[in-house]
Amino acid sequence: MNNKQIGLVGLGVMGRSLAINLMNHGISVVGYNQSKAPTETLKKGYPDTFTACFTDEELCNQLSTPRMILFMVPAGKPVDDTIAALKPFLAPGDILMDGGNSFFHDTERRQQELLSSGIHYFGVGISGGEKGALLGPCMMPGGPREAYDSIKPVLEAIAASFEQQPCVTYIGPGGSGHYVKMVHNGMEYAEMQAIAEVYLALKQDHTNEEIAALFEQWNEGESKSYLLGITADILKEQDPEGNGSLLDEIVDVAHNKGTGRWTGQQALEQEYDASVLLDAYLARAVSNLTDLRSSYEVTEQGCPLRLEPETLHRAYDLTRYVIYAQGFGLYRNASMKYSWNLDLSGIAAIFRAGCIIQCRLLDTLSEQLKQNDDLFMTDWMMEQRNTLLPSLRKVILGSVQHGIPMPVMNGALTFMDQLGSPLLGANLIQAQRDYFGAHTFQRIGSELFMHHDWEHSIK
Ligand code: 6PG
Repeated sequence: MNNKQIGLVGLGVMGRSLAINLMNHGISVVGYNQSKAPTETLKKGYPDTFTACFTDEELCNQLSTPRMILFMVPAGKPVDDTIAALKPFLAPGDILMDGGNSFFHDTERRQQELLSSGIHYFGVGISGGEKGALLGPCMMPGGPREAYDSIKPVLEAIAASFEQQPCVTYIGPGGSGHYVKMVHNGMEYAEMQAIAEVYLALKQDHTNEEIAALFEQWNEGESKSYLLGITADILKEQDPEGNGSLLDEIVDVAHNKGTGRWTGQQALEQEYDASVLLDAYLARAVSNLTDLRSSYEVTEQGCPLRLEPETLHRAYDLTRYVIYAQGFGLYRNASMKYSWNLDLSGIAAIFRAGCIIQCRLLDTLSEQLKQNDDLFMTDWMMEQRNTLLPSLRKVILGSVQHGIPMPVMNGALTFMDQLGSPLLGANLIQAQRDYFGAHTFQRIGSELFMHHDWEHSIK
């Protein structure tokens, strides 16, 4: 395999940035895009290292065999169309990499479909947006282990690095690379929503500039994260049209491209409680209910919520720990379900730079995951919970009293309370199930499932 040459299909924002990143690292790019203009622009800018192609056949002919081809096209049908268009010109031993946000079961189907042709197929989660793609993204490649060594040098050359370690590692077989990226995005949604909730609470008695200053201060310590940092920038940005804060001019409706929803769906399918990730997705969904939202007038106008910023800070920290513990819990659970043998500590380590959820906390999590692959079971998590829970409870009490919706932080508190509660009422659920459906229950101290004749014993 020629490590100094790669085919790249799809030269949109991400594809173009990756092409430049590859060329900056001495890897020549043979590129193809459905519309001609992006291909021609790259050729003009990089005449020596970029080969412009205008058909799939040309792209395949220009590459030395075995070929390495990365595609950066939208998830879904465009990926299947790209594979179908390339396939007639490919040979056994060629490697295809899907760098988009494809659904992991689709990636597995494509791997199976290509198996008989001897073509290796990787689902490569890529995080970091346009800037990351250009300067060094975090990458999550999943696919056949035997073919990984061929793509490793190229991926390591262009990845972000953290303390000289590349932010890319072999994730596992099948669709595991895209699965890990999907849950990365689920955690991304939850991190974003948690920051939005803190902003909402602080907005009660702080200006955007004051909130930015607080976030900048938090960002100097253990809470440091890429998302918190960009939020401080956003809060300071002024409207070019002269209306003050640009943020205050933005419509209060959040969109998504589906990865957060898939994360929630997978959590439900795995019967794993990733409630805070689901809450974050649902918060975006509710923001879209514009007609309903405008029909419900505010009925209570109390005094504004006033919380010590440090109380909010502590509540925010605990919420983040729950977000990551649930996200990595999903990894752990999926790894067992699909026999992927995921290295959770290694995944946390590659998240430390390049990706959207990069943050200081991941360093701690990577260490903790070496000791125990369930973050909720670590002494570290127990200690954090004992120290920070009163602050989270205080924030949620205030938010409920003042009608400030904080679904993710509230979800984190509920989950912590559920874990710590000696009685969840599940005994009553079992009794109800047994009453109307003879679904049986277990008596304390017994392994046996038994049915009780509830109706006839009622006097
Ligand atoms: C990343 C991001 C990226 C994602 C966007 C938009 O890791 O670089 O997760 O892959 O596509 O952030 O996601 P939503 O449109 O679903 O918010």
